[in-house]
Amino acid sequence: MFDPALIDLPILRRRAYNLRWATVPADVIPLTAADPDMPCAPEIAEAIARFARERYFSYGPPEGMPEFRESMAAYFQTRRQIPASPGWIFPVDSAAFGIYITCKAFLSAGDEAIVFDPVDFLFRYGIEAAEARAVPFAIPPGEAPVDFGRLEQLIGKRTRMICLCNPLNPTGKVFTRQELQQVAELAVKYDLIILSDEIWSDIVYSPNAYISMASLGKEVRDRTITVTGFSKSYGLAGLRIGAVMASCREHYNLLFNTSLHKSTVHGANLLSQVAATAALTECGDWLHDFLQHLQRMRDLCVNSLNRIEGVRCLAPAGCYVAFPDITGTGLSPGEMQELLFNEARVAVVPGLPEWFGDGANGHIRLSFATSAEILTQAMERITNTIQRL
Ligand SMILES: Cc1ncc(COP(=O)(O)O)c(C=O)c1O
Repeated sequence: MFDPALIDLPILRRRAYNLRWATVPADVIPLTAADPDMPCAPEIAEAIARFARERYFSYGPPEGMPEFRESMAAYFQTRRQIPASPGWIFPVDSAAFGIYITCKAFLSAGDEAIVFDPVDFLFRYGIEAAEARAVPFAIPPGEAPVDFGRLEQLIGKRTRMICLCNPLNPTGKVFTRQELQQVAELAVKYDLIILSDEIWSDIVYSPNAYISMASLGKEVRDRTITVTGFSKSYGLAGLRIGAVMASCREHYNLLFNTSLHKSTVHGANLLSQVAATAALTECGDWLHDFLQHLQRMRDLCVNSLNRIEGVRCLAPAGCYVAFPDITGTGLSPGEMQELLFNEARVAVVPGLPEWFGDGANGHIRLSFATSAEILTQAMERITNTIQRL
């Protein structure tokens, strides 16, 4: 059962890192890293406990537990309309690592990869780790038209990959079928790999619908690497678990060899695979209720922000982050972060290039995956502080 009233602040203050409760003074509300304040589904904790009670933690298969691969393939088949095969999916110790190995596997020094702008820093990180260059492609927020002519102009002789983040963190944009088809057509025309990060794909608000890149047909699927994870939909960030899916033997082998799982240097923890399998097979109702709650929190957050003079915020179609434009306040994102931290005692993420690229300028990001009580308090503090300017 999902219940936002179960939020346990003393535990969060001990355990929630990455700019959150365990890293801020006791009177600060951290709306920073997108990591829910609610505990995970009880079915997940029970599955881990059942496995642990048997007291065997032997080496698992390097390519992942069969139950995990099968439930992941079933998820892609039934929920994403992708003819997925368990044999071409393997668990990784985070979506972050999935992005990283996809970049390492398909990019060489001097290559170029297109990243949307703004977007989470992990894409640039992976591309630069492969000694390649990230080429930013500006994506407007919301339903504003995307300039695909500009995207084509950015494709050059060294371009090897397009990195798609759908839904898009931080703007919450969910790409339409037509938009995905335009990206796909260019990838086919210029023989590019598509890295499709779908970690946010379960967090899409009605009436928007989610479409997976690899569901668009064989020609597209054959060049798409799908990466996903369990940090956002199920609150399992600390278990470090995600999955990578290829759609042909050659791509699978390249990714798997790059992962170093076979050598045991890297690998996905068995307890984390057990948790992720339980999430996929037993937690549908929990996820449904979580999403309903998030939709209410989105509306609360966006409506409060839009009542503040100088702040404009579109309702995100997906993700549980709001990304308001604060240029009307006259403050830069860094100045606003400092003001809110010092005066409102609310921590937010500033729209700085190192977090989200140049396209985030003029914005801050706030996570609303918390209770109505905590969010209302944070919004009141933010409103009072900005209105005093
Ligand atoms: C778009 C995107 N991809 C990947 C990640 C990282 O997920 P994980 O915790 O599985 O590494 C995040 C986390 O914020 C994200 O927003």
